[in-house]
Amino acid sequence: MSARSRNTPLRGRVRVVSDKSLTHRGLLLGAFADGVTVLEQPNRGADCRATLRAVRALGAEVEERPEAWIVQGGRERLREPADVLDLENSGTGMRLLCGLTAGVPGLSILTGDASLRRRPMRRVIEPLTRMGARIESRQGGFAPLAICGGAPLAPISWTPEVASAQIKSAILLAGLFVDEGTVRVAEPMKTRDHTERLLEFLGASVTREDEVVALVAPTRLRARSWRVPADPSAAAFFVAAATLVEGSEIVLEEVDFNPTRTGALAVLERMGAQITRRPGSAPGPEPCGDLEVVHAPLRATVVEAHEVPSLLDEIPILAVCAALARGTTRFEGIGDLRHKESDRIESVAALLTALGVEVETGDDWLAVQGSGSLAGGKVRSHGDHRIAMSALVAGLVSESPVELDEVAMIETSDPHFLENLARLTRSREDR
Ligand code: S3P
Repeated sequence: MSARSRNTPLRGRVRVVSDKSLTHRGLLLGAFADGVTVLEQPNRGADCRATLRAVRALGAEVEERPEAWIVQGGRERLREPADVLDLENSGTGMRLLCGLTAGVPGLSILTGDASLRRRPMRRVIEPLTRMGARIESRQGGFAPLAICGGAPLAPISWTPEVASAQIKSAILLAGLFVDEGTVRVAEPMKTRDHTERLLEFLGASVTREDEVVALVAPTRLRARSWRVPADPSAAAFFVAAATLVEGSEIVLEEVDFNPTRTGALAVLERMGAQITRRPGSAPGPEPCGDLEVVHAPLRATVVEAHEVPSLLDEIPILAVCAALARGTTRFEGIGDLRHKESDRIESVAALLTALGVEVETGDDWLAVQGSGSLAGGKVRSHGDHRIAMSALVAGLVSESPVELDEVAMIETSDPHFLENLARLTRSREDR
């Protein structure tokens, strides 16, 4: 497929898909919390649907309405699932469920697609095992995982081997089943803090001091209703597209403004992007508001390791922007990108090389030689939604078309991506 409305300005307003990270957490904490959660505007992509099926299998009731998912939860409802839990392509779903199922009596078997079964799980298995969980994996710490839940869980103090919100969240979710004491996770580099915010919103005793997040047991959560703001990682593709295509002027509504998620905006601004934030609000624990974006020329920058957790999923699209900026942009400290839905250092490098860009890679870095233009050509998504979306944005400004092998996996995070892109790039006469 190729997105061909070359250099057609993006115009108009859109609320992009709701946040994926928050929807996973809304379902998992909603399943544990006593009472009914009305989770307004959930992300309905395939990843979150896999988590929805998993929490249902674990005993929560979830009713799907057009405007919300209604979750009837409670610790006492949670029970052994009758079948294997298939998290498909979702690393967040699998790692967070490791934490939850560690506390649910009985056997939970977690599996996923070929990509997820290649992703490292030892990073969650180790701390959870230290807490007392019983987890078996394939050799090397890969899924399928067999979790024998319900054994008493003890508090730990843990510093994850990599900056990862998924590891932190898995530990905090297991921490919900600890009877007494304080579960601590140290984060030299702060990662997205949605789990902590939501835990606090639902009544848990959770604090952050210096670099340490602490959850004080025992925890009971009271269900509360809230609305999931739009996903800043999904929004980044539209911010980039509007920045790159001359004459563009768009508004992205109710985007999550959580500072642990907005690093890409800061980097794009540093590169010259024109982005205005209009703070608003949505019921729930997250700050949000509208983003106004107009076209602007870009210059190269250096993205430093300490910035990476706040823009982790945006690196593929930032790399496309770097190719269209003048000068060399370096991304440093991005080694963990090799363990995402694809090896994103290699798949971004392959994407840009196929489009005529000079790229250099190292174990944990990427350098993009920006020339201000993209040739076009045949590219592969490597089964990775963020690579596919980046390729389609590149195709909006490339000299010749960008031909992409498949787009179906975009559905994992953003089922409305193509529709929204088409809407914003529809020529004036069609509006
Ligand atoms: C996520 C955390 C990030 C991110 C992923 C979603 C989350 O991964 O890449 O898409 O919801 O916790 P890590 O922080 O685990 O690397």
